[in-house]
Amino acid sequence: MLNKIAVIGGGNIGGVLVQEIVKRRLAREVALVDVKEPDLAKGKCLDIAEGTPVIHSDIRVRGSKQYDVIEGAELVINTAGVPRTVRPDGTIPSREELLTTNLKITDFVSNGIKKFCPGATVISIANPLDAIVYRLFMNLNPPREKLVGMAGVLDSSRYRYFVAEEAGVSVENVEALVLGGHGDSMVPVRSCCRIAGMPVEKFISPEKLEAIENRTRKAGGEVVNLLGTGSAFVSPAWSALEMAEAIIFDKKKIMAASALLKGEYGVDGLFIGVPVVLGRNGVEKVIEVDLTDSEKERFNKSVEAVRKTANEVIERTK
Ligand code: APR
Repeated sequence: MLNKIAVIGGGNIGGVLVQEIVKRRLAREVALVDVKEPDLAKGKCLDIAEGTPVIHSDIRVRGSKQYDVIEGAELVINTAGVPRTVRPDGTIPSREELLTTNLKITDFVSNGIKKFCPGATVISIANPLDAIVYRLFMNLNPPREKLVGMAGVLDSSRYRYFVAEEAGVSVENVEALVLGGHGDSMVPVRSCCRIAGMPVEKFISPEKLEAIENRTRKAGGEVVNLLGTGSAFVSPAWSALEMAEAIIFDKKKIMAASALLKGEYGVDGLFIGVPVVLGRNGVEKVIEVDLTDSEKERFNKSVEAVRKTANEVIERTK
């Protein structure tokens, strides 16, 4: 259990995060900050706090429009930013199209973290994922252990769910990794997908696997289209909590996450989705997977897509 966790952004994802932190008792106190009037964060936290007697949780919940509420947090989960949503013409934007708006919000968020909890470990969820984490890195300049993006856990979970459904087995039996950027170029790594330790190809045909991998790449958009307003929020929140719990309980758990590469995979100075070991110190290790040639090729393409958006981030700083 930590003393204090801060959630930044109290919309759909932030709301689920606060509820779950209180239910799972991950910290003695959870603080929520959101700039939305009249006082969204305070309202959400009051609602949750008033329910704590019923769920037998003595966790303190505090929400505010002011960033000082996050003072002293050891772990920050950042969800501040606009989500994708269906446009009036029925199309949906790419995550990259959120960049302009969400960069401004991220600069605001960075100032809050810098002022009130500069030493915190940060898990960021806002999109476009890898680019926003990169901006946080530029603004906060933390050691690589302390800043990580949540995307791979969610993308891998989506892949696992589709595989389990197709194979007719428990989701608990399916292990999978989705690497690269959190965009259409992400790489579901078939050679790492196992069902109860056996290669996935034993259960599912290559054609069906191909279809599942395509669906995984577009899974976020599928939910956006169905919801009509906003994007997926329960599975992203649960995925971030999977990472938070690995850190809080020092699990040394391996999962895909957007981490700063320092030469691994031949990449230097970019945040990319790769398997990492998460423990008390945050990102304790980056693991290099032996990819097949075609997976390597697709991974490199994904790196280039992430680099392009990261360069835009740099351009917009000048
Ligand atoms: N500081 C704090 N909160 C902010 C700020 C800010 N500077 N700017 C915006 N917010 C808040 C908004 O007021 C809103 O309540 O962030 C919240 C975002 O919530 P939603 O719009 O419900 O979006 P959500 O579905 O939670 O997604 C958040 O995560 O997955 C990504 O693409 C998604 O970028 C989006 C982010």
